[in-house]
Amino acid sequence: MRFLCLLALWVMGAAGPALAQDTAQQTDVAQPAGTQPVATAASPDGKLALAITINGEGRVGYAVSREGKPVIGESHLGFLFSDSRQMLRGMELQSAAKSSKDESWQQPWGEWRTVRDNHNELVTTFQERDKLRRTMRVRFRLFDNAVAFRYEVPQQPNLARANIVEELTQFRVVEPGDAWWAPALESNREEYLYNHTPIDGIALAQTPLTMRTRSGLHLSIHEAALLDYSGMNVARVHEGLLEAALTPSSSGPKVVRDTPFETPWRVILIAPDAPALYHANTVFLNLNEPNKLGDVSWVKPRKYVGIWWGMHLDTQTWNSGPKHGATTAYAKRMIDFAARHGFSGLLVEGWNKGWDGDWFATGDDFSFTEAYPDFDIAEVSRYGRRKGVRLIGHHETAANIVNYERQLEPGLDLYRRLGVDTIKTGYVSDAGGVQALDPNGRRVFEWHEGQVMSRHHLKVVEEAAERRIAINPHEPIKDTGLRRTYPNWVSREGQRGMEYNAWGEPKNPPHYDTELVFTRMLSGPMDFTPGILSLTGRGNTPIPSTLARQLAYYVTIYSPIQMAADLPENYEANPGPFQFIKDVAVDWDDTRMLAGSVGDYAVVARKERGRPTWFLGAITDEEARTMTLPLSFLERGRRYRAEIYRDGDDADFRTNPRSIVIERRVVRSTDSMPVRLAAGGGLAVRFVPLGR
Ligand code: NOJ
Ligand code: CA
Repeated sequence: MRFLCLLALWVMGAAGPALAQDTAQQTDVAQPAGTQPVATAASPDGKLALAITINGEGRVGYAVSREGKPVIGESHLGFLFSDSRQMLRGMELQSAAKSSKDESWQQPWGEWRTVRDNHNELVTTFQERDKLRRTMRVRFRLFDNAVAFRYEVPQQPNLARANIVEELTQFRVVEPGDAWWAPALESNREEYLYNHTPIDGIALAQTPLTMRTRSGLHLSIHEAALLDYSGMNVARVHEGLLEAALTPSSSGPKVVRDTPFETPWRVILIAPDAPALYHANTVFLNLNEPNKLGDVSWVKPRKYVGIWWGMHLDTQTWNSGPKHGATTAYAKRMIDFAARHGFSGLLVEGWNKGWDGDWFATGDDFSFTEAYPDFDIAEVSRYGRRKGVRLIGHHETAANIVNYERQLEPGLDLYRRLGVDTIKTGYVSDAGGVQALDPNGRRVFEWHEGQVMSRHHLKVVEEAAERRIAINPHEPIKDTGLRRTYPNWVSREGQRGMEYNAWGEPKNPPHYDTELVFTRMLSGPMDFTPGILSLTGRGNTPIPSTLARQLAYYVTIYSPIQMAADLPENYEANPGPFQFIKDVAVDWDDTRMLAGSVGDYAVVARKERGRPTWFLGAITDEEARTMTLPLSFLERGRRYRAEIYRDGDDADFRTNPRSIVIERRVVRSTDSMPVRLAAGGGLAVRFVPLGR
């Protein structure tokens, strides 16, 4: 405790904008006695301060404060190896160098057209004092709303290959508070309702792991640029001390890398409130390399429909038989529906052989080129292209990447020949059930977020890019901002989507969605598959949502490809609300989280890419809420027609979910909009410019 206070005092003195001015200079390295900071850095606005320490045992640590108040207390860094002594103690600082960057870059598609990367960097190099003399660099970056760092392990004789059993990275959260976290390494992979506990009630958590400290600071721990490494979970040691827990591997060490290599970035978002936490998520993109694919104009944000929801309702099947969904005749009817209503994509699941029997047990039978006899894929894609509707491909692998990788090239080639430019992939199996080959060609079982899968997903994305195809994995590896480098990695699942509302209990409760926005959605787009206007799942069981909320998801839960997931007949029976799904944009110039509170509500405004139209979406938890929203995001001096889809005054997700009011008003940026969200409800608005 005494140390923490000293460090806090020190950090208060050190945090000043002056530090942010340093550019590419070597700092003097003082060799410490005890735990004096040996190097420091601050965020560009001077609010966040970082102190690097080496304690009496020679353990490297870092600490972070915000406006002089400790946020992350001294937290240690290092590695545990399976074939060599741990790299943790007896370290000395060899060098520390600072630099700064302030640059903006453009996203080919995304929530913001322009992203600013403004950070200060501190690169520290450490070496063991004893005879092994192994070294590691740690590169820190401070943004106004985040601290990030990664290990860079140089090539060296005493560490030619790193067999990493664990990464000894700590995050010591100083203040108590609340945490929202999904359990890690459980059988259902990433798809768990969030636990909402005190920070000292965290067990083994997936990331993003979001916290709100007693003083109201919002933190989220996650990672960026997960490449050839295993995904990081976070385990609580005691009180607020959290530690990295890498995803296991069948080979023993969780990660095997030859030096030189670098780890993914370890990131702590630090923001004053929930909306600012959401806006801080550009950090994950900034920590990834720029676009490697060149011209990606072939990656097309779009809305799509599917032969899909029927299977989840159990009224159709993936497998062959009387209920087979993917028939030529039904696909053509779906294409007609899509064309009539302006959707440019049709996902067809269950068209290929392999779904009969227990497909998720092995996945060995999946063919990625052969269609069932009642589905003429060439004819369906020809028919669709004539009507401006492309097939969205589907590759369910049952997490058998042996079978998938064998057929990957012919499977992708077929789709390319048919003009398919987006493929949904799928990795259904229990956690730890990914079938892969080890280096000796033996079949082994891996985890969805292990090193093997970080390689596999990249391979699929790169092979697809060569054929100008975008990829949308379900049961994926977590998103760590790689869409910047590979913009054809358009979306993914990675939490509980709408399908949970089709199946049994528990369905996704309203507060889950408002947690999702500030946890999973920090990491990147989600193929959530909204828009179930029937508000019913299997056997007509009610979905916990109002009608307006189904529309609001298109704005609150970001994805550049959005599904209109319900059956055509349910859209045709609800033409009023359906109009919003037809109108809503999927690609944006600007995004503003106007208001929000983790697990309570979220209100987002987004401006359509290349057009002056704005959209607004709001969702709440089980509580009804009223608020007054200033419309100051609209262009000044302009009039807009606000097309409002709101919960009826008597709406309630339990008792009256279908009550909706659709109305129009003329508004300006100086107006405020009164908002009432029903319990489990939502609001969706399109603002169409009308001139001045
Ligand atoms: C799970 C996916 O989330 C779902 O969308 C898909 O329909 C099934 N797997 C079958 O691939
Ligand atoms: Ca799934």
